[in-house]
Amino acid sequence: MKKMLVIHLNLIKILFMNLFEVPQDIKTEAKKLKEMLNEHSHRYYVLDDPVITDEEYDILFNKLKKIEDTYPMIRTPDSPTQRVGSEPLKAFKTIEHPSPMLSLDNVLNEEEFIAFHNRISKGLEEDQVEYCLQEKYDGLAVELIYEKGLLTKASTRGNGVEGEDVTNNIKTIRAVPLKLLGENIPSHLAVRGEVIMLKTDFHKLNNSYEEQGKKVFANPRNAAAGSVRQLDSRITAQRNLSIFIYGIGESLPDRFNIVKSTDVFQYLKKWGFKISNSIISDDPKKITKIYKDLEKKRLFLEYDIDGLVVKVNDLNKQKVLGELSHSPRWAVAWKFKPSETEALVKKIIVQVGRTGAITPVALLNPVKLSGVTISRVTLHNPDEIERLDIRVGDTVIVQRAGDVIPKVIKIIKSMRPADSKKFSFPEKCPSCNKKIVKPEGEIIPRCVNSECPAIISENLIHFTSRAAMDIDGIGTEWIQKLAENKIIKDIADFYYLQEKDLLQFNRMGEKLASNMIKAIQSRKEVAFSRFLNALGIRYVGENTARILSKYFHSLDELIKASQEELTDIHEIGPKAGESIYNFFNDTKNKAVIEKFIKAGVKIIYSVNISGKLKGLRICVTGSLKNYTRNEIKRKIEENSGHFVDSVSKNTDFVLAGDNPGKKFEKAKKLNIKIISEEDFNSMA
Ligand code: IVH
Repeated sequence: MKKMLVIHLNLIKILFMNLFEVPQDIKTEAKKLKEMLNEHSHRYYVLDDPVITDEEYDILFNKLKKIEDTYPMIRTPDSPTQRVGSEPLKAFKTIEHPSPMLSLDNVLNEEEFIAFHNRISKGLEEDQVEYCLQEKYDGLAVELIYEKGLLTKASTRGNGVEGEDVTNNIKTIRAVPLKLLGENIPSHLAVRGEVIMLKTDFHKLNNSYEEQGKKVFANPRNAAAGSVRQLDSRITAQRNLSIFIYGIGESLPDRFNIVKSTDVFQYLKKWGFKISNSIISDDPKKITKIYKDLEKKRLFLEYDIDGLVVKVNDLNKQKVLGELSHSPRWAVAWKFKPSETEALVKKIIVQVGRTGAITPVALLNPVKLSGVTISRVTLHNPDEIERLDIRVGDTVIVQRAGDVIPKVIKIIKSMRPADSKKFSFPEKCPSCNKKIVKPEGEIIPRCVNSECPAIISENLIHFTSRAAMDIDGIGTEWIQKLAENKIIKDIADFYYLQEKDLLQFNRMGEKLASNMIKAIQSRKEVAFSRFLNALGIRYVGENTARILSKYFHSLDELIKASQEELTDIHEIGPKAGESIYNFFNDTKNKAVIEKFIKAGVKIIYSVNISGKLKGLRICVTGSLKNYTRNEIKRKIEENSGHFVDSVSKNTDFVLAGDNPGKKFEKAKKLNIKIISEEDFNSMA
């Protein structure tokens, strides 16, 4: 019923608007803005070569959005404003692929690869075969359909014949052109590729999930697949996905004169796609070398790959070779070995982290894993030690899977020395010797001594780290030395460090000392969110720091916030709220902050908060006519307001819809201004 009303209202609005022609100059401007934005988006997300800043992009984007809001009929499906996702679906529809999306046959070693090459060579009756080599992306396969140059449908691989309709989700991926660029485009085009999430974006997402107490994704592939298969495409829009196009689903018309798959890629590139890079080779020995080099390089790429794809390059030859039911004969995936190896456990130690977390670590006889020497591997927590029953003297299997961090996956019990003893977890902190505690219901033991030297130096190291103050050039060892010698006792002491403090150490020269001081002093102006992250407050990582820096307009305001006000912030849970509150109400921490200010550290607050609801804290109760909860939250935040979960004396407004709940009563009691949906609409 409500939906019908909304639809009617929208129809009336559109009819009404249509009574007036859109002025020609507005039409021209919107068209120009759209083209400019699409071009800049392509430069940024596909070519990795932006020519304008993010702020300049935002200005153009907002201009277009404003025009489209005033003249909705000017909005077209290829407008960059359409990448924000839309209403959640109840279920995905299915889409049939124009031709089946096949899988690839695997080979696992050089011998199998040579056997593949021999089959091809025999099938084509030619000794030399030109191959096109590409990385095998570890993500989710999708197909995109363009009609008359416009993206109309996108689907997952599904069972190969038909997949799920994920059009709304795919439209949110910035590297996907909504409209093909350039001239001479085919009236119908089906491209195929792999949706991926960059490792950095994956870690950011997981960090923020962890801070919110949500279950994290196991690897970037699961995160990418989970994001594409979201019924609410507005969530997908927030996920920063990318895509590599590696092929087409239907041949291109004859006029394109296509002979090889690399010819196809030339066209796809021109039309604005982010395509997989190809290497051409007809030499199996060279291909083997390329495979081996790539296997070493893979861990350092920005995204996950799990092999090398080798395809016959000539399209006619592909046809000659043909297809099996599930995979083509003309291509193969040369998969990487899961990089694992045996290693001997020399010792098991425990480490103290900056929050006091005690982490067990196995020290190994150094081994090489995908080209990198490994001599230590984390065992995470006592439960994991128990589960593996890992002991000193054990031979273990260590794996470096999708991620760079190695892990122990198995103990080879048959190789265990007869006199080996079960590992018993220490009861005292290895650094300060105080008793380790394990809070009820938590799996990680902790040192809770705030004077613990290990905790102090870990906090100092965190303070200087890249995502915090980004002070480059001191180095972990020197920080530890300065902490041990009590020259730096807290994070603010960095700014009071003088050359003479440093020169008393062996191996410290004047040049090094002066460079260190310079490095510190050059980081006196710092963004609010970085500073908050650098303080090392428990449960406040990069993400929470950013949220706090947007919600509070100054450090003072944050220091004065009540615990209730903190937990009212939608993304901040009770644990984080309590921890932040306690941090700023601790006299020692207050003194440290004073010291920063005295030393001349200047916090930079972001200035471009200019929405109509700037800084207002709004709580919503009851059902609204025109917004779901998510929509009203988005609307408030778009206008620089804050959507808060509960009513407190710090709430500015309570927006009450039909059948308001307890929050309404509370607002009346606390004398908080109550507004209607209509009032809200006139404000935002
Ligand atoms: S070509 C006929 N090229 O690997 C199949 N696939 O295991 C043509 N994949 O379903 C696929 N990177 O999702 C091709 N550079 C690449 C690829 C690639 C990843 C995926 C694709 C396919 C799966 C097969």
